[in-house]
Amino acid sequence: MYQLIKALKAAGEPTRLRILTALTQYELTVTELVSLLGQSQPRVSRHLKLLLEAGLVSRFQEGSWVFQRLNESNLTAQITRMIDLHDPALKKDSDRLGRIKVENARLATDYFAANAGDWDQVRNMVGSDENIEVAMLEQIGDRNFQSMIDMGTGTGRIVEIFANRAAKITGYDSSQEMLKLARSKFEQAGLSHCQARLGDITALPATDASADLITIHQVLHYLDSPFAVIEEARRLLTPDGLILIVDFAKHQHEFLRTEHAHRRLGFANSEIQFWCENNQLSLEHSQKLTHNDSRDGLDVMLWILKSKSK
Ligand SMILES: C[S@@+](CC[C@H](N)C(=O)[O-])C[C@H]1O[C@@H](n2cnc3c(N)ncnc32)[C@H](O)[C@@H]1O
Repeated sequence: MYQLIKALKAAGEPTRLRILTALTQYELTVTELVSLLGQSQPRVSRHLKLLLEAGLVSRFQEGSWVFQRLNESNLTAQITRMIDLHDPALKKDSDRLGRIKVENARLATDYFAANAGDWDQVRNMVGSDENIEVAMLEQIGDRNFQSMIDMGTGTGRIVEIFANRAAKITGYDSSQEMLKLARSKFEQAGLSHCQARLGDITALPATDASADLITIHQVLHYLDSPFAVIEEARRLLTPDGLILIVDFAKHQHEFLRTEHAHRRLGFANSEIQFWCENNQLSLEHSQKLTHNDSRDGLDVMLWILKSKSK
């Protein structure tokens, strides 16, 4: 009874209800909450402390950023289910949050527009190389695929290395500059079954259960909502399909945020596991990969996800 009263008291205040509503959409830093709510940092921190103590919210630190997320509990779910998202004040917050997220994404968009021409060189520096590509191919064995989707395809390198393993491949990216290079790469290599298409990988113009192989190579750490990409991959996956994710293991290299537009400092196995559990996926395999430039704890991981319905 005491815990319930504490939670209801914590949620029963306008600013804290706005925070809870915002966290139903994204994991947010205190800075983002300050700019959303238009209140001072100490005030926002006081509200967060009450939500944390009531067990409605939890926080996790990643380098110098601290993210807040909703707790996975029945109580949190019950309270957030009562929120009317059409409420005018909450709708206004949601629009403002959308603008904050667009601005965050712009940093990465600008980075890729500026680096598109050099990407095939830069990508080796920031966590991609031949060893990793070989390991990805090894993991799929001799299986061939009908329809592959490469999410965040960039210059199309991953499409290129899987080109003879799938009857049809579509690489999606939000950067026109990257896509232009991917298209000319496919044309030059005579890969007429491979396409590069414009699309936001959290909402792709592709039908449900239409891909039996989905690759997400060094993309998730650029996103505010990597979880939304996993949800989208789940929607697109056929029942017997595979999702291959390559990204950094958890690390502390802040310079990747400031110099290379990363948002997330890698991912722990437990986080991938958590996304799987929430999406009817199973984590079939995880593997630390050798990276040519693997220094100071900057490790690259490969994760393979499968649909649970299989
Ligand atoms: C680090 S590059 C990786 C490219 C490619 N997978 C590779 O390994 O060479 C990340 C790519 O993700 C794309 N990207 C980031 N956010 C995206 C989004 N929301 N929708 C589509 N593409 C996105 C960027 O434009 C960029 O080309």
